[in-house]
Amino acid sequence: MTEPFNEGAYLAALIELHAGVEFKGPGDKDYSRALMAGLPGLPPDPRVADLGCGSGVATLLLAEHFGGVVKAVDLCEAFVEDLRCDAAAAGLAGHVEAICADMGALDWPPASLDLIWSEGAAYNLGFERALTRWRPLLAPGGLAVISEMSWFAEERPAAAVEYWQVAYPGMASETENAAHARRTGFEVLDIRRLPAEAWWRNYYGPLEARMGQVERTPAMAAVIEETTMEIDLFRRYSDYYGYSFYVLRTA
Ligand SMILES: C[S@@+](CC[C@H](N)C(=O)[O-])C[C@H]1O[C@@H](n2cnc3c(N)ncnc32)[C@H](O)[C@@H]1O
Repeated sequence: MTEPFNEGAYLAALIELHAGVEFKGPGDKDYSRALMAGLPGLPPDPRVADLGCGSGVATLLLAEHFGGVVKAVDLCEAFVEDLRCDAAAAGLAGHVEAICADMGALDWPPASLDLIWSEGAAYNLGFERALTRWRPLLAPGGLAVISEMSWFAEERPAAAVEYWQVAYPGMASETENAAHARRTGFEVLDIRRLPAEAWWRNYYGPLEARMGQVERTPAMAAVIEETTMEIDLFRRYSDYYGYSFYVLRTA
């Protein structure tokens, strides 16, 4: 019989599984760099924030690309600490302000940012709620680049629907998310899909390797079972859903 464990133990095991895995969600450095390089109309020294930054893979890319000081926010202290260490190791400590806080309750002044970047994190608030909370922080003409799990097609395999209805009931199509963005005061400049190869190379591959290294407490066993289910589903159905990057400008 499996020993019981509480929600806190599950969360701690989830963090432990992701410790030592650079990406805390699907992403790709070259892909993100190319997006950054193509952003239109930013001022010369843009004020930039990375929300739900994890251990800050994108934060460091933003700091390298834009210079200045990137404000990087995550609720997980261990990830924020990793970012501080990685920024120092990369010689970018002076370009990163790593903040342990709730990205849904930031008390920053209105219109104090030119670019909000957020990879694989908005779903924690819900896409529309995240946009509603973050929109006032952007200066006129400011941009938001946000990746969000999205359905790619109207046709949706039953097994995928069944899984995601529980894991992320708010998961919507790209068309629906574009409508959420417009409703919350944004113009949709572009929607781009993260290639499935990036999921395997940078996230699921390293995560599967890590599963063989961690101690299998009951909570860890549950995390591994759940993650394996998610991975198997993506192996079968990556044509039907994935991360889309929404490039938005304040309307
Ligand atoms: C899937 S990870 C993505 C992390 C990072 N952007 C990356 O791509 O590697 C989602 C992150 O959101 C953070 N998170 C969840 N809820 C949050 C909140 N309310 N405020 C700040 N961060 C939050 C988690 O701690 C986690 O690091």
